[in-house]
Amino acid sequence: EIYEDGLLSNKRPTVTTDPNALEAQARKYLGARSFNYVNGGAGEKATVDANRLAFRQWKMIPRMLRPTTHRDLRVELFGQKLESPILFAPVGVQTIFHHDKEVGVAEMAREIGVPYILSTASSSSMEDVAKANGDGTRWYQLYWPQDDEITISLLNRAKNNGYKVLVVTLDTWALAWRPADLDNGYVPFASGIGDQTGFSDPVFRRKFKEMHNKEIEDDVFLASRAWEKTVFSGAAHAWDQIELLKKYWDGPIVLKGIQHVEDAKMAVEAGVQGIVVSNHGGRQLDGAVGSLEVLPEIVDAVGDKITVLFDSGIRTGVDVIKALCLGAKGVLIGRPFIYGLSIGGKTGARDVIRGILADLDQSMGLSGIRTIADCNRGMIRRVQYGG
Ligand code: FNR
Repeated sequence: EIYEDGLLSNKRPTVTTDPNALEAQARKYLGARSFNYVNGGAGEKATVDANRLAFRQWKMIPRMLRPTTHRDLRVELFGQKLESPILFAPVGVQTIFHHDKEVGVAEMAREIGVPYILSTASSSSMEDVAKANGDGTRWYQLYWPQDDEITISLLNRAKNNGYKVLVVTLDTWALAWRPADLDNGYVPFASGIGDQTGFSDPVFRRKFKEMHNKEIEDDVFLASRAWEKTVFSGAAHAWDQIELLKKYWDGPIVLKGIQHVEDAKMAVEAGVQGIVVSNHGGRQLDGAVGSLEVLPEIVDAVGDKITVLFDSGIRTGVDVIKALCLGAKGVLIGRPFIYGLSIGGKTGARDVIRGILADLDQSMGLSGIRTIADCNRGMIRRVQYGG
């Protein structure tokens, strides 16, 4: 359909289909501060760059004369049948990119059959997002509060609103040194807009009132600061605390932000069902390796015991194939859909994801791969061309 519109009818898409032009197009739609927020990374962005370089170091070796005319992109993750291995990465504060925000994207996600992962730093409440997402597939991403009572309240709300998988982000117990945001004085969380999870939480509301003797609505700024401290407390949890999550969450648990093979093994020992090999798109520890770099060793160590997902740096359909060939069972996509959201609201985000899906489908065919299960290391090679 995308091809026919473009090549036969000469219809121009609203959102560019060129992955390298997408960022520049989004820049035109956003103020400097919100553009820097999504585009930016930690430190000197060495890890943002490494994420892309890592993909460039792997090349496909396509097979010919195989029956790949009709591709099958379906996968099963944690007992859920999905149309494809692509998921929306959790991204906070989506209202700064478009007023469609999380509710709009979650509604669209159901329409195109792509799972939506809602961030704790959301500008829509979990309940509103669940309503908009309807019978779509939704997971909940937890920024893990130090306060267990609040944690339990969030888990219960997620459970009661049909979020099936808990994604616990481990790499962001404090926000990183992000020069673009620091120089712009930009803290999207401490303004009330990314705090709807907290503001709509009965336990957080009660505790805020007890401590400050006023309602959240009486002092949104103060409540924002309190919520920010709750979720980005500056103190990491420890492995033995996973037990609490297991006790209060009866579905699958996925740990996001794993980069070290020893941590992947610890995740198995902790008894969780999955991990996301991720460096938060290079937004946390600058100087960390490109995320794809560590995927093969982690898959070798734990791939037969838990479900390994991947994110950080995926921009094209072939990137998805490379991650799958290296053993990921599914991938999360972050910035690209946010660029689409910025350009054209929820339909812009839809067009970006549909574009990557179409590219994935086409590139699978050209590689001689018919099903996702056919992706394997024999089709990919590490190269070093230099330069
Ligand atoms: C993120 N990411 C993120 N992750 C998370 O667990 N909770 C969150 O609230 C956010 N918020 C967020 C905001 C913005 C603007 C970006 C760009 C990213 C990280 C995200 O889930 C994912 O790990 C990366 O975006 C993946 O890298 P790419 O696809 O952006 O290269």
